[in-house]
Order: sequence, then C-alpha cells, then structure tokens
Amino acid sequence: MVDMKRKGIILAGGKGSRLSPITLGVCKQLLPIYDKPMIFYPLVTLMLAGIREILVITTPNDQKSFQTLLGDGTNFGISIKYAIQREPKGLAEAFLIGAKFIGNDQVTLILGDNLFYGSSLVSQLKDADRKEEGATVFAYPVRDPERYGVIEFDKDGKGISIEEKPENPKSKFAITGLYFYDSSIIEKAAKITPSLRGELEITDINLMYLREHKLDVEVMGRGMAWLDTGTFDSLHEAGSFIRTIENRQGLKLGCPEELAWKQGWINDKELEDIAKKMLKSGYGEYLLELLIT
Ligand code: DAU
Repeated sequence: MVDMKRKGIILAGGKGSRLSPITLGVCKQLLPIYDKPMIFYPLVTLMLAGIREILVITTPNDQKSFQTLLGDGTNFGISIKYAIQREPKGLAEAFLIGAKFIGNDQVTLILGDNLFYGSSLVSQLKDADRKEEGATVFAYPVRDPERYGVIEFDKDGKGISIEEKPENPKSKFAITGLYFYDSSIIEKAAKITPSLRGELEITDINLMYLREHKLDVEVMGRGMAWLDTGTFDSLHEAGSFIRTIENRQGLKLGCPEELAWKQGWINDKELEDIAKKMLKSGYGEYLLELLIT
C-alpha cells in the first residue's frame, strides 16, 4: 500500500426519520439517486480528492448492507473499512469512532447523503487536500439557511461566525457536509460537549478552527450543485437532476468503478469482470463501453 496522509470518512448513520416510511426498512444512504445508491456520490467525491483509505460509519443494523454493496473497496481500487455508530450522537462523533483509523493523519469527512456536482469541484477538492494545517469547509448559498450550519462573512469575505440552525441566519450561506481537517481533529473532537439537542456538533469543531484563525471557507458558487436529499421532493429532484445530465451526455456521474479505472486504480480486466456482473441493468454495459471507446 502506498503511504497515504489523508483518510476519508463517510458518515452514513442517522435515523432518516424525515423520509419515513421509506427509511423504516432501508437506510437513507442506500436509497437510489436515479441509477445508483446514494452513497456512491459522496464516495466518488472522496475519490476525486484522491482519498483511497475510507471508513464507512453506519448504524449497527445497516452495516451488513453497506458491506454487501461496497465490500472492502477492491472494486474501486481503494480500501474501505467499517465502524458502527450506536446512536446518532452527532457528526463530530465520527472522529472519536474513527480515531484509530485516522491515527496521526489528516481526514476528510463527508455525509453519506451529500451530493456535489460541478466543474470546479475537483480543483476545490485538490486545493483543500493540499493544505496541511487547519480546516477547509465549503459554503453554499441556499434559500433556507436556517436548516443548516450558517457562516457569516465580513466585508472582505472572511468567515467570522458560524451558527447551527439559527432562527435568524446572518447570511444565506450554509456549510455543506464536506469537511477537510488536519491531524488536530481528534484532540478537538474530544474537547466538545453535546449541544442542547444532545449532539456533538460539527459546528463546534469548525468554531474551534475559526477561533484559531485556521478555518478556510471556500464558497461554492452557482456553477455548482449541492443537492439536498432530505425530503421526498428533494430526493426526487436529486434523482431527476442526475438523470437529466446523464441522459444528455451519455456519461455517468458518481460512478466509482469508472473513476477507479480512469485513475489507474483498477485495470481493464478488473473493470470487465465487475461490468459483466451488471449487464442486465445497463450499468455494466456502460462500464464495458469504457473499455472500447
Ligand atoms: O448537510 C449539512 C449540515 O449537516 C450542516 O450544515 C450542519 O451544520 C450539520 O449540523 C448537519 O446538519 P444536521 O444536523 O441537520 O444533519 P442531519 O441530522 O440531517 O444529519 C446529516 C447526515 O448525517 C444524515 O444523513 C444522518 C447522518 N448522521 C447524523 C447524525 C446526527 C449520522 O450518521 N450520525 C449522526 O449522529
């Protein structure tokens, strides 16, 4: 294995209660977004950042399903490990659960229900990855900032405050579910205490970096899509969005096998073997066509 200094965590727990009854029998991050399970999209986002060692954190009940879907990562030319979050005690708990996995490395956390799309995504990911000290988060303008962590900027565009689900948001910029941290993250996560809603808040971690003047806030502009999957409508819209682009271009978004092959992380034979198992859905055919075009 090559020496890797940044690890990735996909947090895919939670109750998904806003999507009941759909999520009574299957967890949210396994629901389809058009032609793929939701978790493929955040997985590909981490892979686009060049991250090849990934921990998937799930509820105890759902772990098996994720293992069946993703295996040990071989199909994607990466390593995937698994851990359990017993109760949804907050996003920041991911760093305590994953402490051993992270070790002394840097880490990127992505929420298993966060979809990013846009031509500047890769360059923003690479820039964040290159930074050795501090943290990078991404701000995205939304119509309903009160549902998110909200960042306030000063007149020079510097982040000056962050509030979790404020009643009166100080800006329209939500902080997305993609966070790049340096190796001080475990120490910071160990210091925070549960909020009024009983969660270890990622916003408290970001505030620590902000106070240390070590928080970079990168704005994702209107050329980018950060898709919501939290309601019936937004889930449907995310699927339609992916379908529209894929059907127009004849190219897939969020396809980890394709990306792994393009990066040289799996070879032609490996791609062919994976593809042959999925010929009936058309997904396998798409992968096979990559080999002849
Ligand atoms: O989506 C971005 C937002 O995510 C940020 O703007 C907020 O600052 C951040 O706190 C978070 O907002 P919510 O707290 O509303 O996220 P939610 O409870 O919807 O959880 C996000 C995902 O993470 C969801 O798929 C469930 C999963 N999750 C959540 C918690 C609290 C876990 O796996 N474990 C948990 O303990």
